[in-house]
Amino acid sequence: MRLERVLQYAQTLLQSAVGNGDIAVDATAGNGHDTLFLAELVGDDGFVYAFDVQKQAVDATLHRLLDHALEHRAIVLNDGHENVAKYVDKPVSGAIFNLGYLPGSDHEVITRPNTTIQALESLLQLLKIGGIVVLVIYHGHEGGKEERDEVIRFVSALPQKSIHVLRYEFLNQKNDPPFVIALEKVKEYPFES
Ligand SMILES: C[S@@+](CC[C@H](N)C(=O)[O-])C[C@H]1O[C@@H](n2cnc3c(N)ncnc32)[C@H](O)[C@@H]1O
Repeated sequence: MRLERVLQYAQTLLQSAVGNGDIAVDATAGNGHDTLFLAELVGDDGFVYAFDVQKQAVDATLHRLLDHALEHRAIVLNDGHENVAKYVDKPVSGAIFNLGYLPGSDHEVITRPNTTIQALESLLQLLKIGGIVVLVIYHGHEGGKEERDEVIRFVSALPQKSIHVLRYEFLNQKNDPPFVIALEKVKEYPFES
């Protein structure tokens, strides 16, 4: 068996959780690669909610969907993922975050720990049992390490009876390589007892 690269592995996880007719969320649409991937997975009976605070990213994502004639399977919202609960009221099968900045754009606009964690809180409520949230953590940029550490602190404290938390990482790569954190909901959250 070959070890999957980080981005490949993120998609494999989504593929295992999201299928025909499902609801999925791309929390950081960027250039729309993951929105398109999710739109392919959910089929014509499912739906994707994609979020990005930059108009440039919203437009790029819409174009990518249009190029593949899949625009009817998604809504691309020019809003922060911390507001996910305002738009999504159905159980979510899979969600993805690519933390950091949009490649080829303003490096000042980055995901931030507070809003990322707020979005995670909401998505953990919305997630159906067996659903997965995948985070690709980029931490080489300014502010990246703070966000990485806060996200790790948050997910490490999640109740293990309701959320399984995985970290997938290559340990011998140089220059702050990205890694994956995945959350699988196995029981209602917050778990009480
Ligand atoms: C690493 S990029 C995403 C790459 C994307 N998945 C792709 O396929 O190209 C991170 C994106 O998160 C966006 N972003 C930053 N803060 C956000 C927030 N609060 N809500 C939603 N998107 C946000 C940025 O504008 C940027 O486009």
